[in-house]
Amino acid sequence: MSRILVLYHSNTGNVEAMARLVAVGAESVPGTEVRLRSVAAATPEDVVWCDGIAVGSPTNMGLLAWQMKRFWDEAMLPYWMKVDGKIGCAFTSAGGWGGGMELACQSILTVLMNFGFLTFGVTDYAAKLHTAHYGAVALREPRTEEAAAGCQLLGRRLAEWTAVFCDGRKELHPLVSATERLGAN
Ligand SMILES: Cc1cc2nc3c(=O)[nH]c(=O)nc-3n(C[C@H](O)[C@H](O)[C@H](O)COP(=O)(O)O)c2cc1C
Repeated sequence: MSRILVLYHSNTGNVEAMARLVAVGAESVPGTEVRLRSVAAATPEDVVWCDGIAVGSPTNMGLLAWQMKRFWDEAMLPYWMKVDGKIGCAFTSAGGWGGGMELACQSILTVLMNFGFLTFGVTDYAAKLHTAHYGAVALREPRTEEAAAGCQLLGRRLAEWTAVFCDGRKELHPLVSATERLGAN
């Protein structure tokens, strides 16, 4: 069983909606248990518990929100050098194109790297003209099909990598399953 934490901060509900979609994507992988937690309700035990983590924040001045940064600065500080090796990824919602979504995702990934997490982006197109190379992104609410697909793909990929690398379920490697899918057609 792979354990996935979807941890988010949201002021007005947009990132929360993304977090729910990321959780749906993770749950689509068999043998995955998902916890969905707002950063206000989360505790370090949630992070210790998980094998894989998706962290979401609104883009604030091109960065993760201070509420999320504070969790890692304060609550998680005693766990520094004790939780290395988890699989991590990022997602964000912003007010506008060019507002720094990828920068915000990178700032989340930087925090996760400082805790020794193994971070990734998604190479596939989640939908037409929509990728999640640095994490899943949405303008405001993820109300378009493309934005929702990006969130779900990120969650699914997180659960797949976690199953492969933390749970030894090599058949869930996305390239193996893609080859099998192609072979089956
Ligand atoms: C303090 C603050 C800073 C923000 N900075 C940015 C920014 O740099 N770029 C951007 O595109 N939107 C920015 N926004 C807009 C939010 O990222 C956007 O409204 C987002 O969808 C909010 O997500 P939420 O509903 O989960 O809180 C900012 C909003 C606030 C309150």
